[in-house]
Amino acid sequence: MAVIRKGIVLAGGAGTRLYPLTKVASKQLQPVYDKPLIYYPLSTLMMGGLKDILLISTPEDTPRFESLLGDGSQWGMSITYKVQPKPAGIAQAFIIGEEFLAGEGCCLVLGDNIFYGRIRLDLIIKAFKGGARVFGYPVTDPERYGVVEFDDSGRVLGIEEKPAHPKSRFAVPGLYLYDEHVVDVAKALQPSDRGELEISDAHQYLIEHGHTVTYSEITGWWKDTGLPEDLLEANRLVLDHASTIIDPSATIDAATKIAGNVIV
Ligand code: TTP
Repeated sequence: MAVIRKGIVLAGGAGTRLYPLTKVASKQLQPVYDKPLIYYPLSTLMMGGLKDILLISTPEDTPRFESLLGDGSQWGMSITYKVQPKPAGIAQAFIIGEEFLAGEGCCLVLGDNIFYGRIRLDLIIKAFKGGARVFGYPVTDPERYGVVEFDDSGRVLGIEEKPAHPKSRFAVPGLYLYDEHVVDVAKALQPSDRGELEISDAHQYLIEHGHTVTYSEITGWWKDTGLPEDLLEANRLVLDHASTIIDPSATIDAATKIAGNVIV
């Protein structure tokens, strides 16, 4: 059994697809209904019962997140911060977070992903047995995303980044669980052709080195806010469900009780 107590929110990147919106304020600070986008992935970790959070962002934006979110004590959490000097890949988060993780596993959420509905991350975390866990969400345009291939037992066979011929219609959202091996795995990766430590390479490495990578379909809805139309749709979805989304003033205990943005 791998115990997950820590969460990493990766909230850097360039956000070039949202230019000029993201020229002066990062993607994760853009408004989604009545809150900055970052509140939503943060609330997903709260729903998972994770109180110890590391937020990683760019040199310019990290101080902005710090002034927005503080040390997390207002929500009964601890939020600490680290800078990613350049967007050198999602898997670099584990190397940057090595000290924070201190030999433990973690839940990673991307700062521009919104989850809503019966995710029950708390139960998924409790049931996590080690290796890695990824999720899938059915989409009509899988070629835009990392796409998961899995067998009948829920074991992941591979994840392909933006495949021309997707092997399934399940996109992999930016929410993952890893056991304590994840830092060593990230350190073993080579940068891809685009110069990044790719999260899909980390998963491939785990599979090839005999770790169990499991999969389950995410319930509720998921929105990645990469494009202007995604951001617009996210605003509409959140507005339509505003009454059941976690209040940013809720404490983590209240959040786990009402299951915040999870409709139970
Ligand atoms: P992406 O959407 O892949 O990249 P981006 O946000 O830079 O946007 P664009 O492609 O329009 O330039 O990133 C997904 C999330 O991961 C997003 O929240 C930013 C974050 N990220 C980092 O923090 N560091 C990184 O090195 C990468 C690649 C992404």
